[in-house]
Amino acid sequence: MQTTYAHASDEPTTLEPKGRAVARAIAAEGIVLLENNGTLPLDPCRIALFGTGAEMTVTGGTGSGEVNVRHSVSVREGLEAAGFEIATALRLDAYRQKWHACRTQFIADQRAKMRKPSPRVLGELIAMEFRHPADDPVTTLEAEALQTDTCVYVIARQSGEGVDRTDEAGSFRLTEQELADLRVCAHSFSNTIVVLNVGAPIDLSFRHDIDGIDAIVLMGQAGMEGGHALADILTGVVCPSGKLAVTWPEGYAQVPFGSSFGTATHDNARATYAEGIFVGYRYYTSFDVTPAYPFGYGLSYTSFTNTLSSIELAGTNVVAHIDVRNTGDAYTGKHVVQMYAHCPDGTLAKETHRLIGFAKTRTLTPGSSETVSIRIPLDAFASYDEQQAQTVLEPGNYDIMLGSSAHEVETVARLTLATRIVLEQHRNLCASAQPVCTLVKPNRPHGEAAGQQTIPVIAIDPTSIETVTHTYGKTSKTYEELEQLVNALSSSQMVSLCVGTGLLGNKDGFSVPGAVGHTTTKLRNLGIPNIELCDGPAGIRLQRRSAVDAKGAIKPIDPPLSLYEVLPPLITGHLYGDAEHDKIVYQFVTGFPTASMLAQTWNTELARHMGETVGSEMAAYGVTYWLAPALNIVRNPLCGRNFEYFSEDPLISGKMAAFVTRGVQQTPGCYACLKHFAANNQETNRNFVSSEIDERALREIYLRGFEIAVRESNPASIMSAYNRINGVYCSESAELLTNVLRDEWGFSGVVMTDWLATGRGRSNECRALEAGVDLIMPGGNSAHIILAIGLLTGKLSRRALKRACTHVLEKALAARPNLAKSITRHHE
Ligand code: BGC
Repeated sequence: MQTTYAHASDEPTTLEPKGRAVARAIAAEGIVLLENNGTLPLDPCRIALFGTGAEMTVTGGTGSGEVNVRHSVSVREGLEAAGFEIATALRLDAYRQKWHACRTQFIADQRAKMRKPSPRVLGELIAMEFRHPADDPVTTLEAEALQTDTCVYVIARQSGEGVDRTDEAGSFRLTEQELADLRVCAHSFSNTIVVLNVGAPIDLSFRHDIDGIDAIVLMGQAGMEGGHALADILTGVVCPSGKLAVTWPEGYAQVPFGSSFGTATHDNARATYAEGIFVGYRYYTSFDVTPAYPFGYGLSYTSFTNTLSSIELAGTNVVAHIDVRNTGDAYTGKHVVQMYAHCPDGTLAKETHRLIGFAKTRTLTPGSSETVSIRIPLDAFASYDEQQAQTVLEPGNYDIMLGSSAHEVETVARLTLATRIVLEQHRNLCASAQPVCTLVKPNRPHGEAAGQQTIPVIAIDPTSIETVTHTYGKTSKTYEELEQLVNALSSSQMVSLCVGTGLLGNKDGFSVPGAVGHTTTKLRNLGIPNIELCDGPAGIRLQRRSAVDAKGAIKPIDPPLSLYEVLPPLITGHLYGDAEHDKIVYQFVTGFPTASMLAQTWNTELARHMGETVGSEMAAYGVTYWLAPALNIVRNPLCGRNFEYFSEDPLISGKMAAFVTRGVQQTPGCYACLKHFAANNQETNRNFVSSEIDERALREIYLRGFEIAVRESNPASIMSAYNRINGVYCSESAELLTNVLRDEWGFSGVVMTDWLATGRGRSNECRALEAGVDLIMPGGNSAHIILAIGLLTGKLSRRALKRACTHVLEKALAARPNLAKSITRHHE
């Protein structure tokens, strides 16, 4: 018998409109206006709407990041609802049919491959990629017959888990047909607006070759309200305020070490992070490379000024107050204040510009202003000295700049430091066996040196700063009561607590249809609740509709993920429920814009609202852990999961993750799970690849966002990544999971593995628990057996097992104190 919070009726819940409003606000603020010659905003009018994303709009990426929603608003629907008349309606109807026919054929082709299922074939399944079929070419004749001078052309790209994108037509590049269509449109219509329905950068070099493109709008993959949000921006109901959170290169050839990305395909493959700390804009600004659109860039319909009104050093924080004024005369809008630093080169070469703080204003009417305050901890200026294992401030001048992007900055203040300060004394951790050769920055004078104008100069007093010396191997927290509970468990019960119930495991008792993980139900009679884990990060992935059979078993009606569609009935036969005869239960949740778009809002309050909304939905459906936010660094534009991640910059990644987490965990019993810890920056060979990174880059770039999120939001859990770092599997790395995470950052939650990260040929369950993993997911019998044998043979210590149990138990008990009661209440 399974019980659930799912609803017996498909009537909209009270949470749905609230969620949609938050999704729409994020989408509208996350859209980035890349080009505009004054054509936008537009009054609603008759338009020609073309491109594969116009009707079949991509709302998010594929794989575990998918969200199943009641309905998503396409570009066409959004524009129609805003009052546009679509001159190409028949063409769009026909394209919808073509898309579905191609999808059906694609599914049939994939299923044919499944006739001989093997682990390899099943493994490849997740990497299958369905691309939007081409629409009929746009012709001059057709354009002329449409009786409008305005066209909107929507370029769509889909990507997802398990496979990286490629520098090819249809992926990073435009197809020949897209280019030909754009030429016809730009020539035939007086107003041509290109909309990019993509989750990561694509090649926009067409804008140099095709005359007559009036505006380019990065719509992103904007969730269930995307069509409405796009209409809000195109019509000026919302003034664009989104800014890029990754650099858009001028062609893939510009990407540092791009040619070696994704080439580590064999088993002991090494992906060398040869750019060191020079990731994203840190590379473009330091090596004087002009990208297509820089990090932090985005246009508006109005104009703003921002001026530093005052700045002071209060303890170990610099506090800057910035006056922002809307200097336009027509549009009300928001502005993003971006603060960068130029840190002095010393023993350690620094990136030319580094983001040290940001804030978004409230909505400012023309002429009005606001003073925003930004607190910048001194460690935002620091670097990691690998030789000494120290986080340091080297002597010299630290220029503080206000910027409208990473490339357009103005120095507004300066910190000076006479002697080297050690902020933190660490131990060398996760270091590479052989040194990783990284890029050497050219020695150029800093172009933004404080110039003619007088700027405030603040001297840092080195004697006022104390070094934090980390100690390792200490127990950060004691759990006396829990320890007694754990001591009363048998070895087998302890192992059960630390191992999920498997992919298709026992879901007796309480159930969340759509959950991707479950913990044991075997200990319920001892008062230890089982809990459910669901995916993210663009919302909670649940089953919309499930069938409850006569025995109370709950089965999905719709495919849980799009990849299930290609599984042959032989495999899925038993999986689905009987929609015709069984009782149906419903769960409808919000499909938010992707994380890459949330970052483009640069609005941490919106991130918190999103988290709060997710938290309310988790509580409503009984979800305990949400497997999000994901905050891997966008190292290369081709990573297939970039849409799930925030940025190439660790500060914005860490802040966004912290605010989402705080929002989620505001609801008692609802937990966020930061993922994928760490340096999981490619999908190719993700289970075996070793990310070879020098310790400085690892700490300053790849761990920094996690550090910010852990320190600022106290997440209940974190997921260890599939890959290895410098040869050691993340889930087997005590240095990463214990020394960095718990000893240095004070993390006190549950560490769980990524799904199937352990197992034959992958990392080992006993070593994982010894290293600091608390929960093996999705778990199952074999993991249970390996741990039980490990306990007998000494491969697993009782100490490690008890520690893991205590962590899992603490969170489970705090989350579901009244589980039994609520199950009865909800099983109506
Ligand atoms: C993904 C995780 C996800 C998990 C559960 C894995 O394949 O890497 O991000 O949370 O599956 O679906």
